Amino acid sequence: MLYAALKTLHVLAIVAWVGGMFFVMLALRPAVQSLEAPLRLTLMRDTLGRFFRMVNVAAAITLVTGIWMIGRVAKATVQSGASFSMPAEWHLMTALGIVMVLVYAVIRFRHFKAMDRAVTAQEWPAAGAALARIRMGVHLNAGLALVILVVVVWGGAT
Ligand code: HEM
Repeated sequence: MLYAALKTLHVLAIVAWVGGMFFVMLALRPAVQSLEAPLRLTLMRDTLGRFFRMVNVAAAITLVTGIWMIGRVAKATVQSGASFSMPAEWHLMTALGIVMVLVYAVIRFRHFKAMDRAVTAQEWPAAGAALARIRMGVHLNAGLALVILVVVVWGGAT
């Protein structure tokens, strides 16, 4: 029961995080391209600020529930007298998931902070440069998420 709740929370957090990244890349960004820089960058700063508040929670839930599930399986396996070793797709998910959280931390606490400061100071070229770095990080994380999802879901289905 607890394991099922952890897994449900884990997947819901990922749906919110990954779905949000694809929305930003494929819907929001193309739609605001024709706006003047001050309006576009202010809108992106305000939208990303709200999205990143959600990702703070989603990334924490992903990490905590993932490690908790591993802990529960490891404990039950050791208690039954067997030795615990993780399946290959869990290794990949854990390693790439931690990379995703670290990339997100750089996006949020370095590049987004710089963008926020530049938008407030109306320094549009600096804000645009910070947004370009955020975009690279989001592309990287979306790619990593796709790799994890294909490997984990494929592995579970075969
Ligand atoms: C941050 C480190 C992470 C850890 C430690 C972790 C760990 C786990 C564990 C132990 C499970 C349970 C697997 C099972 O019961 O078969 C799981 C399920 C899952 N994880 Fe992660 N995970 C992490 C990050 C991620 C990320 C970033 C994604 C996607 C982008 C992801 C996608 C999934 C999915 C879709 C499932 C459900 C798989 C299924 O039921 O077949 N995880 N995760």
